[in-house]
Amino acid sequence: MEENNTAVDMQDNQSLDGQNSQENQPKKKRGGFTSKIGFVLAAAGSAVGLGNIWRFPYLAAKYGGGIFLLTYIILAVTFGFVLMIAEIALGRKTGMSAINAFKKLNKKWAFLGVLCAMIPIIILPYYSVIGGWVGKYFFTYVSGGGMSAAGDNFFNGFISSPWQPLLFFFIFVSVVFVVVLFGVEKGVEKVSKFLMPALVALTIGVTIYTLTMPGSAEGIKYYLLPDFKKFSVKTVLAALGQLFYSMSLAMGIMITYGSYMKKQDKIESSVHQIEVFDTGIALLSGLMIIPAAYTFSGGNPETLGQGPGLMFVALPKVFAKFGSVGGGILGALFFALVLFAALTSAISLMETVVSIVIDKFHLSRKKSSLIVYVGTLLLGIPSSLGFGVWSAVSVGGMTILDMFDFLSNSILMPIAALLTCVFIGYVVGCRNLTDEIERNGPFKFKKFFNVMIKYVCPICIAAILVTSILDAFGVFSI
Ligand code: TRP
Repeated sequence: MEENNTAVDMQDNQSLDGQNSQENQPKKKRGGFTSKIGFVLAAAGSAVGLGNIWRFPYLAAKYGGGIFLLTYIILAVTFGFVLMIAEIALGRKTGMSAINAFKKLNKKWAFLGVLCAMIPIIILPYYSVIGGWVGKYFFTYVSGGGMSAAGDNFFNGFISSPWQPLLFFFIFVSVVFVVVLFGVEKGVEKVSKFLMPALVALTIGVTIYTLTMPGSAEGIKYYLLPDFKKFSVKTVLAALGQLFYSMSLAMGIMITYGSYMKKQDKIESSVHQIEVFDTGIALLSGLMIIPAAYTFSGGNPETLGQGPGLMFVALPKVFAKFGSVGGGILGALFFALVLFAALTSAISLMETVVSIVIDKFHLSRKKSSLIVYVGTLLLGIPSSLGFGVWSAVSVGGMTILDMFDFLSNSILMPIAALLTCVFIGYVVGCRNLTDEIERNGPFKFKKFFNVMIKYVCPICIAAILVTSILDAFGVFSI
């Protein structure tokens, strides 16, 4: 048992060292973030990824624009805030990653650690399929095909062909695998300090441009003004799943990050900063993509509701406005940066999965990485083929990729979040965590935290889950 813990700790140590490249920490002891800003940036680095740039805009467009945005923001400052605080405090209190943190506080709850661990295993393969798509777009722009990428059938032609998406998926996973195997995360993290701000700057630039395009006013209205007629339980479920996904919640990641946080750093204000960062980038991405998609489609609900392809369809059309040279450069730059963001997130996802395998099966790092690599390839193939050869396979109109996405984000994560609340509220007791948060200064939202964790979060999440599952099985429709 004891040995087991040490193994995990050292493993986690390795995986997080990369996030924290500037500080030289001793390798053997469990390391930690040496500054609060280091912690905030590392956690924000995990949180910001395809979830913000690719997933948020397509969900917002699909679920009615403004009403989704409003629901998301309300959930972020309530559920998101409380859950992130809870996970980080849980990690810092126990000094352990998810699999062991729950076990340490109560043996019977070890299963919750396992549930949390399953989620990144499901996410990584389909995340990499999308990563492959980004790779394809980058490649297209670099090889001078930017104008063709703006064509109406480019995206659908690409994802429905059998080999190309598989090839790019394969390359993407292989790059991630090599980085995880040889541990060059340190370099990756160093570079990302420059490239992430570059991505933000470019996003702001493109946003300003799309906002000033003729006809974008309608699109901006669609995105920013809530239309309450479009509100349903599904909106809430989609927003809740997106919240967990985007903030890397309910999968144990933030517990691990919390375990590296210094005891004297303030949890509450760190969480505020991470939230502002993550939500800010998501909102900005929506502002960049949705008005553009709206303008080019003339507000056609089919285009807006098309799902995973939205970014890939809307942005090349914006870039094309700059002509083949300017647009080509802009597109290459943009997709290079998104590709980089996707790679860093996929690397930390694979790291997480590899350390779970090492921990559970006591295998070497090499063997574990190889298993995860092959497993990811195999699990990702159906998601990739689901847009072409296997498009006949669908449940409730969802493609295979959508199904994995739905399973992890709309079913497993809410269940994990619900159980985490019950665990904290009724098994460990809120006191235990609020004491941890109050170590260095008052916890302003303590009462709110207690009420949310004990009553509001579990009841609301349970209600949302049950209604949506009943709906998915056609018991009644919402
Ligand atoms: N939050 C990331 C995003 O928005 C995706 C993600 C989910 C992730 N789980 C993760 C990233 C675990 C790193 C580690 O894209």
